[in-house]
Amino acid sequence: MITACRRGVELVGVGSYAPARVLTNDELATRVDTSDEWISSRTGIHERRIASDEESAATLGYEAARRALATAGVDVGELGLIVVATASPDFYFPATATLIGERLGAAGVAGYDLSAACTGFVFALAQAYGQVVSGLTDTALVIGAEVYSRLLDWDDRSTCVLFGDGAGAVLLRSNGSNSGLLGFELGSNGGGGALLTVAAAGHARSPGAGPYLTMDGPQVYKFATTVSVESAARVLDAIGLTVADVDVFVPHQANLRIIEHAARRLGIPAEKVVANVDRYGNTSAASIPICLDEAYRSGRINQGDIVLMVGFGGGLSWGSCVMEWSIPLKERG
Ligand code: ACO
Repeated sequence: MITACRRGVELVGVGSYAPARVLTNDELATRVDTSDEWISSRTGIHERRIASDEESAATLGYEAARRALATAGVDVGELGLIVVATASPDFYFPATATLIGERLGAAGVAGYDLSAACTGFVFALAQAYGQVVSGLTDTALVIGAEVYSRLLDWDDRSTCVLFGDGAGAVLLRSNGSNSGLLGFELGSNGGGGALLTVAAAGHARSPGAGPYLTMDGPQVYKFATTVSVESAARVLDAIGLTVADVDVFVPHQANLRIIEHAARRLGIPAEKVVANVDRYGNTSAASIPICLDEAYRSGRINQGDIVLMVGFGGGLSWGSCVMEWSIPLKERG
């Protein structure tokens, strides 16, 4: 699915939140047979955040959402939709979105969760864009919130070193301007579904299906390096832009080698690439909005910048989005 957007839907707020607890590679190496050297050289990850027993996708997502609303200066009463991209929800139901809505005081606002693993945020952004552009709502909150620490087998060194917990959120609004979201390219390929799994309650009782995340790392690596380049090229082409027009590249944060490979193949210089995988690991659907928030608050993304986002992950699935950054500096805070 590839489309140039109808103009007039833009980001007006952004926020993120991560648990205070930092788990370093050295600490992990005391629990499983690994080392800081192995993890840093293979992935670029140095540490990740881990939710406390009191924290959940809903509490992390709430904090990110509250910050996005505050950045925008938008009252919760103006919200018409809350979409939460998550593969680690508090419950199958009630949806994490309704739990966050309740905490925000957004009584009566439609809310639901969307599951597309690490691509979830880009899919949710496209969903919310569709609802805003069609007039179903004027103002939509899109949240990526994950607590993968509860999906991991902490005895499996091949996966437990890769992921972390966190949340990011953006607020979308219809405002009749010519900026904002410019294009999407979304896709999935169920043929590769077995490469990255977490079984849920409804799965067939087949041998090997368990509650923990499983991943064929090398195969997913090949998929990620290929699809991130191809999807980015397709979305830029669809909207008549080139790589030279991109001011900021925000790829999903799975592995620094994948990020650097994609940037190199696309021809995007390092100073335009946002990477924080060293501090958070892979936060799945939360990784892109956490990057957006940090890049905005540190002055790396400014109003008018062309921002290219690329997500990929379980499904297999992928999604790219290009937007013109619309949140002015004065509202940073
Ligand atoms: N510490 C030390 N050794 C390890 C560790 C570890 N934590 N994990 C694996 N190893 C060992 C393996 O056992 C293997 O040993 P062997 O050769 O004796 O069998 C060796 O290291 C090499 O393992 P590989 O899997 O080949 O390592 P590779 O260099 O491919 O890196 C990695 C693995 C980092 C997982 C890489 O494949 C990767 O990044 N894959 C993509 C992950 C990804 O992008 N996920 C995104 C989607 S996530 C989502 O949607 C939920």
